[in-house]
Amino acid sequence: MLTKTRWPYPRIIAHRGAGVMAPENTLSALRVAASLGFAGVEVDARLAACGTVVLIHDGTVDRTTDASGAVSDFGAAELAAMDAGVWFGNEFAGQPVPTLEQGAALGQQFGLWMNVEIKTDPDADARDAGAAIAAEVARRWGAASPPPLLSSFSEDALAGARVAAPDLPRGLLVDALPHDWLDRAQALGCSSLHVRHDALSAAIVTAVREAGLGLLAFTVNEPGRAITLFEWGVDAIVTDELREIRADFLSLYGIG
Ligand code: G3P
Ligand code: MG
Repeated sequence: MLTKTRWPYPRIIAHRGAGVMAPENTLSALRVAASLGFAGVEVDARLAACGTVVLIHDGTVDRTTDASGAVSDFGAAELAAMDAGVWFGNEFAGQPVPTLEQGAALGQQFGLWMNVEIKTDPDADARDAGAAIAAEVARRWGAASPPPLLSSFSEDALAGARVAAPDLPRGLLVDALPHDWLDRAQALGCSSLHVRHDALSAAIVTAVREAGLGLLAFTVNEPGRAITLFEWGVDAIVTDELREIRADFLSLYGIG
């Protein structure tokens, strides 16, 4: 049975804004997720050269815009002038690389809850990045209920986030579950673990639940696998497959 206090957030979460139905991490992606009835989205946040927090996955703009170079070498105005939609389809041409501020405003307008993943650069201080991004999330969401959930693969970033915005919940992201997962999560004051789904088993899910942590599985694109994970007791999944794993997936399959 889901404990609301452990996971007070949506349970079906659209990856990078709207999975593969719109250019990732754009304002269009948020609009598509909301139009399909999703209550929650995951977005990737990183720092521009000017310190503005922007929504983009990779450390470079090459894959998801019409420009090239490191995100951290561009200011927010330069990123806004790039086309972050045309690579996905002409109907999305003209999308800027959005700021977190823009994403937060649009998300709140649509009632979309967000998991903000903190991305870091290898040549920059992850603790500082985590602090800056967490502070901006706290600024843009205020006392939203439920609050947005921060997550990161970088434990340093989570440590920085904890100092800058201690009231925002944090989730530790891992590809594989380290043997000392509970110690790591507790040391960072994390309330949830976000684990690559194929690293999970029924026993691991039970152990995480018994430790009192929320458990999110990513990135789950097969409905059958999603059902298995929920049956094991996973709290939430992040998915690209917005057609088959729809917003009403849980009620459709009678998952409580
Ligand atoms: O938060 C889950 C997932 O987004 C982590 O991987 O690379 O898609 O950001 P990635
Ligand atoms: Mg992500």
